[in-house]
Amino acid sequence: MCGIVGYVGKEQAAPILLEGLEKLEYRGYDSAGIAVLSEEKELQVKKSKGRLKVLSALTDGGRAVEGTLGVGHTRWATHGEPSDVNSHPHLSSGRRIAVVHNGIIENYVEIKEFLLAQGVCFQSETDTEVVAQLLEYYYDRSGDVMDSVYRVLHRIEGAYALGIMCRDLPDAFIAARKDAPLLLGYGQGCCFIASDVTAIIKHTRDVAYMEDGEVALVRADGIQVFDALAQPVEKEHHHVDWDVSAAEKGGYAHFMFKEIMEQPEAVRKTISPRLKGGRLCFDELKLTPEEIRALNRICIVACGSSYHVGMVGKYNLERLLRRPVDVMLASEFRYADPLVDESSLVIVISQSGETLDTMAALRQAKALGARTLAIVNVVGSSIAREADGVLYTWAGPEIAVATTKAYSTQLVLLDMLGLYFAQVLGSVTEEESARIVSELQTLPAKMETVLADTEQIKYLASQYFNHSSIFFIGRNLDYALGLEGSLKLKEISYIHSEAYAAGELKHGTISLIEDGTLVVALCSYAPLFDKSVSNIVEVKARGADIVALTGESLGEELSKTAENVLTVPDTHVILQPSLGVLPLQIFAYYVALQRGCDIDKPRNLAKSVTVE
Ligand code: F6R
Repeated sequence: MCGIVGYVGKEQAAPILLEGLEKLEYRGYDSAGIAVLSEEKELQVKKSKGRLKVLSALTDGGRAVEGTLGVGHTRWATHGEPSDVNSHPHLSSGRRIAVVHNGIIENYVEIKEFLLAQGVCFQSETDTEVVAQLLEYYYDRSGDVMDSVYRVLHRIEGAYALGIMCRDLPDAFIAARKDAPLLLGYGQGCCFIASDVTAIIKHTRDVAYMEDGEVALVRADGIQVFDALAQPVEKEHHHVDWDVSAAEKGGYAHFMFKEIMEQPEAVRKTISPRLKGGRLCFDELKLTPEEIRALNRICIVACGSSYHVGMVGKYNLERLLRRPVDVMLASEFRYADPLVDESSLVIVISQSGETLDTMAALRQAKALGARTLAIVNVVGSSIAREADGVLYTWAGPEIAVATTKAYSTQLVLLDMLGLYFAQVLGSVTEEESARIVSELQTLPAKMETVLADTEQIKYLASQYFNHSSIFFIGRNLDYALGLEGSLKLKEISYIHSEAYAAGELKHGTISLIEDGTLVVALCSYAPLFDKSVSNIVEVKARGADIVALTGESLGEELSKTAENVLTVPDTHVILQPSLGVLPLQIFAYYVALQRGCDIDKPRNLAKSVTVE
């Protein structure tokens, strides 16, 4: 997730910007840059790939870039690999405009084509550069910066927090926001913008939060804010009393919880660029409809939670495509002499894009002639570069070791890919397809509903946190979901936990159930609800305590059998795991919290597993 900071005042801007960017480092980034307006009214831009210390060395800690007005940026690559040229700020060709941006401009290709046709030359592969170039295009014609900013904002689609400097606006910079965080800071004789308060808390605790559609003109002596129709807006000021470490986590105690709460937004970012006017668009997919039709084998390969996404994917893709889909652990696939060839598609899934076993599996699949497609979060990572095609999840950086938002975004992306393939193959009816699309559109809001109230889950965690063994059972998609719920719990709470296909219990595992054993019974897969209820009855008869999960419409029915029932909103059956996983993540979190575990950095685990 990119970070933005802007300063205007009497001090030298560059050291303040560098210091602010350092405070945003926790958000994750791969490159950084600053733009500062010189006394001669030149936009000086310094930027580089890599850590902030590279930028600091390049600018002598900011001292080599003189000026009292500037914006800075840490970039987390989305469009274009991490590189010096793709780093922000981006300058317009005439060097009159500099832009930093957090978010994704969804229609940048169309705008770029328009500007290229006008003779504009682009330097970078980013979506952001179109904002700088389009702004200069309008500014050339109107000579009015604010007017040009509004024209640009009306033309671009997607999410943005923008910091904009104009050479001809020597005492102010402009900020704009839609679906990406940006706040205003009011200091003594200086003002700021920032992606979050950490970047400016040293200088001021007096802030106002920008709302979608607002545009701010930021000067040293104050900030004017306007709404989407350029009408002045009075902002409510807030006093921030968080300490710096709480501020980094957005006020949450742990990154994991922050990332759990970010899931609706992350999923929205995954869905929105690929769903236009109710139609699925996979422009980035390097597979033609003919090539999709010619595939005779689909194999999903991944590790850990990414593998669990593949498990859900197997059920969903087979349902949608009416073709066999295999899912394999990457560490098994690579040594299994896998049966894939030129007519196979191997889909590898990886948050980090660096997991060694997944990488090895990808290379092997390629060596065997298979087409490869990667679902990856980290842009420019090894897996993203080596796969034939890549679909980015755009979840933003995930800091907590236990994945949450990467899992959710991978899941929804794989569902969307499955639906797209099904449309190409004609294996799904138009009505069914429309139902899924409509549920995809409401999914982020439904996720918000689940996350809005965590009290019941917190209470259940307080009842069961000292159990030594917890079982998750479920059928079909609920079984796949249970695997993730169980992994989440064991990795951060260190409680032994296992996930079982509910129908498999009686083939051995049921002997482990005794008085007071906690069984988390997942019953959100409506077609097999009755079967799952029978399994609850079986384990209850052996003394198990039950925490059960289902969709709202089945909650009442389930409470006749289970003492503790959690519900999530109903949605299309294939999307139900996207909602069901949320209570499981929260349960794991609160159990680990009660046990005093190091939630963000569980013992023996690493975020990126680059060893075998
Ligand atoms: C669990 C978790 C791991 C990862 C696994 C694969 O919370 O995060 O199981 O899912 O190590 O990592 P990636 O997705 O980076 O390949």
